[in-house]
Amino acid sequence: MSLSTKPYIGSRDFYPDQMKFRNWMFGVQAEVCRRYGYSEYAAPLIEPLDLYRAKSSEEIVSEQLYRFTDRGEREIAIRPELTPTLARMVAARINELPRPLRWFSVGNFMRYERPGRGRLREFFQLNVDLLGPDDFTADAEVLMLAIDLMRAYGASPEHFEVRYSDRRLLEAYLSDYDTEKIRAISRVIDKRAKIKPAEFEEQLATACGDDAGVAKVKKLLALTTESVAELPADELDPEIAGRISKFAEFLREQGYGDGLVFDPGIVRGFDYYTGLIFEMYDRDPENNRALFGGGRYNRLVGMFGKQEIPAVGFGMGDVTLENFIVSHGLAPAELGEARGAYIALMSADLAGPVAKLARELRTVGIDVEVALEATKKFGKQFELAEKKGRRFMLILGETELENGVVRVKDLKSGEQQDVPRQDLAAALGG
Ligand code: HAM
Repeated sequence: MSLSTKPYIGSRDFYPDQMKFRNWMFGVQAEVCRRYGYSEYAAPLIEPLDLYRAKSSEEIVSEQLYRFTDRGEREIAIRPELTPTLARMVAARINELPRPLRWFSVGNFMRYERPGRGRLREFFQLNVDLLGPDDFTADAEVLMLAIDLMRAYGASPEHFEVRYSDRRLLEAYLSDYDTEKIRAISRVIDKRAKIKPAEFEEQLATACGDDAGVAKVKKLLALTTESVAELPADELDPEIAGRISKFAEFLREQGYGDGLVFDPGIVRGFDYYTGLIFEMYDRDPENNRALFGGGRYNRLVGMFGKQEIPAVGFGMGDVTLENFIVSHGLAPAELGEARGAYIALMSADLAGPVAKLARELRTVGIDVEVALEATKKFGKQFELAEKKGRRFMLILGETELENGVVRVKDLKSGEQQDVPRQDLAAALGG
């Protein structure tokens, strides 16, 4: 049996053309993050399994982790997300790192999920996190950054919607239940938009096990920003209601209110969230998976046995983002300008002079690719140079060598001229 050329199920090969798109997408992310003062960091692909057992979501640990035992009998996991790692890194240097700490990272992650539209087993995620302050202005900052990211891709609120809530609302309404039950009920709430109303009713009744619970969940789901503000103090801590309204008001004042929707049905699967939770959705119903999700997690860093540091952040996946960009026609018409030069080789004995020319041009910062096989068929060479995204084709034959010139063809304009060696770098834009 011959070996398959397909990548592992749910993972992708990135050929050079796809790499151009990916680099553009990640480049926009880095630019917007830097504009907000965020510094880039990176972390290992694998972590001890215990990190996720203690600090991630139950669903991820029991169903989605890629795990193995290494040759030293250690239990290892390929990272399914970055937040526990970030908390570990911050806890390790808690006294040295200047706060507020604003960090971002782009990396690959693996989850054993059923691949489908917007869901893969290996995906990339931009993580943006702000650690230190526990203010609603910090919550608002990461949300504004996320929205500016979408704007940088050319999107506007007609394309997306940000749904937000506060994890403590769910906890307040389900306080009579234990963790297991809260998880089961949360899973049903999370599925609400994807299943039929009758199915939802049925699953909710099973998860709650009593009518009082069902009534509470329905009350929770019917909450609006206005009704939250009017809840009596014994039903909801007024601090929580106040925070929800201050956060939304601040965003509106700053011009980020369009497409911002309060949605008490937002659950977020991770146990570590302690306050604001949010998700961004594509308005195109074909793309029904979240573009990004995040929230406030004030107790994760403290779980490493040191000081607690309030934190808020989000993760944005590349798969859903690419679907979003393509669906709304936001991809740039041309990715990566044609650049650099391709030097043709007219005869094998010119390989030395061609290599020397290439070396000279590279030292002045011009990208140069050389032909390694001699040919006088220029048509094919031009085609190849163009396909490879080169701007210029250079010819250095015996005559050019004798005359101290190089024949330059601009593949964009089609113009061709003999350029003296000393003027070549300038002619190629070096
Ligand atoms: P998450 O909601 O699990 O959050 O993932 C965030 C985003 O990553 C999703 O909205 C989606 O775009 C992408 N994503 C997740 N799983 C997959 C998958 N299997 N295939 C494709 N894309 C996927 C977190 O991971 C949190 N750690 C985010 C966070 C950072 N919270 C605070 N800081």
